[in-house]
Amino acid sequence: MKTVNTAKEVRTRVERWRCHGRTIGFVPTMGALHEGHISLIQAARRACDRVVVSIFVNPKQFIPNEDFGNYPRDIKRDSRIAAAEKVDLLFAPSVDEMYPEGFDTRVRVSDRLTETLCGLSRPNHFSGVAVIVAKLLILVHPHKAYFGQKDFQQTLIVQQLARDLNLDCEIEVQPTVREADGLAKSSRNGYLSEEERRAAPIVYQALKLAEGILQVGERNPRDMIEAVNKRLRSESLIEIEYVAVKNANTLEDLNVLTGRVLTAVAVRLGRTRLIDNIIVEVPSGS
Ligand code: PAJ
Repeated sequence: MKTVNTAKEVRTRVERWRCHGRTIGFVPTMGALHEGHISLIQAARRACDRVVVSIFVNPKQFIPNEDFGNYPRDIKRDSRIAAAEKVDLLFAPSVDEMYPEGFDTRVRVSDRLTETLCGLSRPNHFSGVAVIVAKLLILVHPHKAYFGQKDFQQTLIVQQLARDLNLDCEIEVQPTVREADGLAKSSRNGYLSEEERRAAPIVYQALKLAEGILQVGERNPRDMIEAVNKRLRSESLIEIEYVAVKNANTLEDLNVLTGRVLTAVAVRLGRTRLIDNIIVEVPSGS
């Protein structure tokens, strides 16, 4: 595996691969690699001739007072994991490389997709995501780029961005990888105290409750949201940020729970913010 730190080096390598007719799969990350990231790398490995992974803790997607400074960084460990997964190219740029002095471009994707769910409590977060993903997709110019369903809102925003800017790349979404007790794997799980870690699976339990409620015929979004809130409130350490039920294609509110129904949750456990979601297909008329 080759590691490079500059945009120019990435470009040279991927252009060479493209000239030789190789397909390129790309997995953008902020590092602290875990099984969720690894599942994306493996999906890229299965589908593409060459796999590129980026590791960049993107300052523009952290809002003031978030954990940018404390975000886990361990490039040696991440390099070992990437090499073991047969990644061909690891791109680990500095902040100055991605945002040199004078950098002054913003990318604003659909308000319908960004000004809801996590966008409400994290202003400008998604424009920070959009600008770095746009830069990376232009630089790496992959045939396919891989994202996790855990950050479902992010996947819709990236799909919109790739479509609108003709980024010439398929956006592939992979299922959420979980711990045995249901907690979605996350680089931030390491922040949890033992007590908080014991409480954390309630998030997935509440989402499974939502799935069960839909399966037995609940069609009223307000009752669903109330049931999920109630389950989360049964764990005293949890502070609920939102429980939302949306159309999974558009993120619009639903009057009746039919079609692709997204149930999404964000909570705080102490100083750690956790998000998770579940999508259930409800046939119309059922
Ligand atoms: P990061 O949080 O490092 O996640 C990188 C990718 O891994 C994202 O697509 C995310 O959805 C996916 N991922 C995280 N946890 C997962 C899990 N448990 N199962 C499956 N996939 C999972 O998301 C970002 O970084 C950044 O916003 C980024 C896209 C790199 C832009 O900076």
